[in-house]
Amino acid sequence: MTAPTPHPSTEGRTPYPVGLLLAGRRVVVVGGGHVAQRRLPALIASGAELHLISPATTPAVQAMADAGEVTWHARPYEDGDLAGAWYALVATDDPAVNAAVSAEAERERVFCSRSDDASAASAWTPASGRDAGATVAVLTGDPRHSAALRDAIVDGLRDGSLAARQYRSRGAGVALVGGGPGDPDLITVRGRRLLADADVVVADRLAPRELLAELPEHVEVIDASKIPYGRFMAQEAINRTLIEHAKAGKFVVRLKGGDPYVFGRGGEELLACAEAGIPVTVVPGISSSISVPAAAGVPVTHRGLTHEFTVISGHVGPDDERSLTNWDAAARMSGTLVLLMAVDKIGAIAARLVAAGRSADTPVAIVQEGTTAAQRRVDAILGTVAAVVEAEGVKPPAVIVIGEVVDVLAAAFRK
Ligand SMILES: C[S@@+](CC[C@H](N)C(=O)[O-])C[C@H]1O[C@@H](n2cnc3c(N)ncnc32)[C@H](O)[C@@H]1O
Repeated sequence: MTAPTPHPSTEGRTPYPVGLLLAGRRVVVVGGGHVAQRRLPALIASGAELHLISPATTPAVQAMADAGEVTWHARPYEDGDLAGAWYALVATDDPAVNAAVSAEAERERVFCSRSDDASAASAWTPASGRDAGATVAVLTGDPRHSAALRDAIVDGLRDGSLAARQYRSRGAGVALVGGGPGDPDLITVRGRRLLADADVVVADRLAPRELLAELPEHVEVIDASKIPYGRFMAQEAINRTLIEHAKAGKFVVRLKGGDPYVFGRGGEELLACAEAGIPVTVVPGISSSISVPAAAGVPVTHRGLTHEFTVISGHVGPDDERSLTNWDAAARMSGTLVLLMAVDKIGAIAARLVAAGRSADTPVAIVQEGTTAAQRRVDAILGTVAAVVEAEGVKPPAVIVIGEVVDVLAAAFRK
């Protein structure tokens, strides 16, 4: 099944889901037609102090007013009607009135949903349903898609095909899970399943953060961020944390960015656990070295253009005695070079590659925060890349791709 294209109103805007506790709080609904008729029952159920402003209503809305569930002000909207409100819903058939209500809401900092123009609203009403004590609320930006998903989830809860995971328990142990490059959709199915069963999650800075927000309350999340040249949790401390929690009987997921073994120190963690007698599962991840270029329109290989790609860590420069890379050999290879952790040292690396024989005209793409909402691509050539990185203020994390593949999809892919 393919995902529908995002509704234009959601583009570039990610709603923050929240459950409003409206009991005893003033809520103003402007417009008494069919939209209000559909929304009012849930607002009534919330216990909100409901005020409806509308010269006329549908018979069903009138019945709610007659029953005392809503206070109906039988007149047109006036500026000031939102005074003291916590939340507003505007659903008249007059766009000028709707705009006036949302302008007042904006001024008074009252969250306001609009039935006529979601892109002008400050709140969106999810498609919602309830089953067995669970409230299901779905927001996709496309009301029909939201409703279909809501129905599928509620039906699944009702017929038992969708079971809550917290009742399942895995034995003590550690799973080294590659979380992919950042987009939460790019973790593997197995990785996601293990994460859902975790008692403890030890997460890297580059592991997809949104996945942590989905974890149930009882899951302990430990931040193992290793910020380059800044605060860091020593690898030994991470190993100790994994071992201690597993020894205490917990199922520990070590959630890492990309693939656990690609410059990820997953091997060290596996060896430390093995030495302590802790069972370890390894779940490969989608490495940024391939996926981040791909997300920005760069295939690391292309038929007829390159028969190899080489992934190199640039965390130490070519002249650093700790470097294990044969930079001169890399320069002489004709294929793609993919550099990770190389933003700081790109000047020295590019100079060394050119000195060793790579053309200064070789195309370069730098992709920062690939696959996330903040992704950006900056293009250069080997001879200018250091100056471009400096001028454009490129910051880690970034993947730098060097080679003819950089331009090969340019005609088809919007940069
Ligand atoms: C310590 S390495 C870990 C690599 C990871 N294990 C993998 O397979 O992708 C961190 C480097 O990966 C690259 N990286 C990881 N995620 C990235 C992303 N979303 N966008 C750009 N670069 C990324 C950057 O070069 C960053 O400095």
